[in-house]
Amino acid sequence: MLAIEVDKIVKQYKNGVKALDGLSLQVKKGEIFSLLGPNGAGKSSLINILTTFYKPTSGKINILGKDLCKEPAWVRTQIACVAQRVSIDEHLSLMENMTFQSRMYRVDKYTAKKRIKELIDSFQLLSYLRYPTSSYSGGVKRRLDIAMNMVSLPKILFLDEPTVGMDAVSRNRMWEMLLKIRDEYNTTIFLTTHYLEEADQLSDNICIMNNGKEIAQGTSSSLRNIIRQNMIRVVLPNAIKAKKYKKMIDNTDFIKWSNIKENSIVVGVANSRKSLTLINKWMIDNNMEFISIGIVEPTLEDVFVSLVNSDRNRGEGLVC
Ligand SMILES: Nc1ncnc2c1ncn2[C@@H]1O[C@H](COP(=O)(O)OP(=O)(O)O)[C@@H](O)[C@H]1O
Ligand SMILES: [Mg+2]
Repeated sequence: MLAIEVDKIVKQYKNGVKALDGLSLQVKKGEIFSLLGPNGAGKSSLINILTTFYKPTSGKINILGKDLCKEPAWVRTQIACVAQRVSIDEHLSLMENMTFQSRMYRVDKYTAKKRIKELIDSFQLLSYLRYPTSSYSGGVKRRLDIAMNMVSLPKILFLDEPTVGMDAVSRNRMWEMLLKIRDEYNTTIFLTTHYLEEADQLSDNICIMNNGKEIAQGTSSSLRNIIRQNMIRVVLPNAIKAKKYKKMIDNTDFIKWSNIKENSIVVGVANSRKSLTLINKWMIDNNMEFISIGIVEPTLEDVFVSLVNSDRNRGEGLVC
């Protein structure tokens, strides 16, 4: 059975903004699913609908096999949601926060005590017990927030941009925590992110979205396959040359899109073998200096740039 099934969801706000425009996606039980998209793509709108805060304008959603719009109260008993803003009460201790949450979800006292101890151990929060929650760093507050949300042992845990603004160490800790939740608690995780690396490293499946629509869905390797063999990287002597040459290459008709990475330009093409020869010749003819040119394995970032660009240019024959 699927954990989440979203079918052609539309969300139009009162001000006329269409945040979701016919989005469909499927999340399997027990997986980590990332909804990846730039700011304003519609990620929070979808998470707010899935967690019953907002109603969709049209479309159908099943959560654990039940219709979300018909049984929102039941759905609420099965899920937990970690919002973008940390929801811990800083006037309460770590223990009091966890206990408060367990009461909200009506977990009996004995079970709650046992579970809270387990969660504190499991997520390495023991050393923080002595300190007031207001003194915790942003990363620890977020981990506590997630631990609190696990007190009810939700079937699905929703997280809206869980690592936004975090440093690399806190982010890695968070990823470890989420993998543990999937593997030890068997919880399905649905998270939103605008970090490609996060979606790439962490998730079993990814939906890339933009302007309220799905652009692509699959595992990170299957998404890379979409444009495999159709990308060429030109390494230049420095970043200034990369910028200058990008403008020139964008004006040619043998590329579909381009993206700068430090001192290199990655370009999407229709046929990498043919284009390799073509670009090589074009650069030599134009006296352009370069260090190397070759066909490359795309990263998820390349996939994202390629897909978002082709989505923007749809109708102009620039679809990859
Ligand atoms: N409550 C709201 N009322 C009106 N417009 C909204 C509301 N929430 C979000 N939007 C708009 O919907 C679009 C998608 O926003 P959002 O879902 O927050 O995207 P994301 O989380 O991907 O950044 C944006 O254009 C945003 O301004
Ligand atoms: Mg958002």
